[in-house]
Amino acid sequence: MGEEHHLRPATIAARAGRPEAPGAGVNLPISMSSTFREGGEALYGRDDNPTWEAFESVLGSLEGGRCLAFGSGMAAISAVLETVPIGGTVVVAAGSYNGTRRWCADAAARGRIGVRLVDTTDARAAIAACDGAQLVWLESPTNPCLDLADLAAIAAGARAFGATVAVDNTLATPLLQRPLTLGADVVVHSVTKWLSGHSDLLMGAVVTADDALLEVLRSRRSLFGGIPGSVEAWLALRGLRTLPARLFRAQATAGELACRLAAHPAVSRVRYPGLPDDPGHALASAGCDGVVRSGGRTGRGRRRVCGVRGADARDEPRRHRDAHRAPRPVCLRGADAAVDAADERRAGGRGGPLGRSGPGPGRDCLGSVA
Ligand SMILES: Cc1ncc(COP(=O)(O)O)c(C=O)c1O
Repeated sequence: MGEEHHLRPATIAARAGRPEAPGAGVNLPISMSSTFREGGEALYGRDDNPTWEAFESVLGSLEGGRCLAFGSGMAAISAVLETVPIGGTVVVAAGSYNGTRRWCADAAARGRIGVRLVDTTDARAAIAACDGAQLVWLESPTNPCLDLADLAAIAAGARAFGATVAVDNTLATPLLQRPLTLGADVVVHSVTKWLSGHSDLLMGAVVTADDALLEVLRSRRSLFGGIPGSVEAWLALRGLRTLPARLFRAQATAGELACRLAAHPAVSRVRYPGLPDDPGHALASAGCDGVVRSGGRTGRGRRRVCGVRGADARDEPRRHRDAHRAPRPVCLRGADAAVDAADERRAGGRGGPLGRSGPGPGRDCLGSVA
C-alpha cells in the first residue's frame, strides 16, 4: 500500500511507482536479471523483479491493498482458488469468466473441491449458498453477460459464514469499483484487458489488504512459477498510466453505442448496465458502466457484440475457438471504430447497422446513461 491513497485515481495511475531520485529517469528500466547480487532485497527472478514491483505498487494503490503480479489472469485466479483446502467448497458466480468456471469444474471432477454455482444477481440466494463454503468467487460485471452483483451485501453475508471473498474486477477496474472497500478479501485482475489496454500482452494480478493472504499467494506464485515477464510488466505499467483516459473515453463511446443499438429495429435486446431498463442499472448507478454488450438479429443470424477490449480496433470476426465459451462473442471490435464506421457509412449515403437512430445527435443519448 502506498501513501498515495489521498490522491485521485488518475493521479495515482500517472504518478505512483516512479523513481524519485534526482536525475533518475521517470520510468524504471526493464529489469532483465534472473539473479541478483547478494546484499539487496531481491535474490531470484521467480520471487522478485523491480519492474513487476513498480506495476504492483501502482495497481495496489489504485485498489487500496498490496498487489502481486502474475503471468496471466488465469494464473492469478488459480493462485487464489488454490488456497481452498482439499475437500473445501467454493461458491462461484454462475456467470463468471468461463476460464474460472472451467478451473472449478476441473478441480471438482478430480475431487479437489466442491463447487456451488450461484446466480449472484440474487444476493440472498448467493449468501445462503455460502454456508459451509471456504471461498466465494464473485465477478461484477460478469464477462460477457454484464450481470452485476451487490458485492457489499454478498461480501458481508459470506464473511458472516467465515468464507473468504474474492472478486474478479477485470471489467470494472479500480476506477469504477474497489471491491476491497466493499468488503472483499482479495481482488483479481486479468491485466491483459483494461489495465494494460493494448492487446499486446497477457498478465494477471491479485490485490489484498490481508498480509497473511498476501504471503500465501506470494508463495503460490513462486511455487507454481506463474510470474509475468519483465517486458510485459513494463508494458502493463505503461498501459496503466493511461487507464483513466482510455476507460472514460470508452465509457462515453459504449453509452452511445448502447443507445444506438437499443433504438435499432434489428436489435432485440441490449445489455448495458448504464441503460435505465437494464437489470443491473440500479447497481451500475453506483458506478459501473464501462462496457457494452448487445444481442440482435442480422441477415446472417444471431450476433453478439462485446466491448471488453484494449485500445486496438480489430474489425474481424473472432473465431469461436473454445467450445466451453458461452455465450460466444462473434464480433469483437473497438467501440470507437464501430461508431466511426457507422458515421462514415452514413456520410457515404449507405447508412449502417449502428447509424444514429436516437432522438438527436448521438451524444445526446449519453444523457440517459448513468
Ligand atoms: C473477467 C476475466 N477474468 C479473467 C480472465 C483470464 O485472464 P487471462 O486471459 O489474462 O488469463 C479473463 C480473460 O478474458 C476475463 O475476461
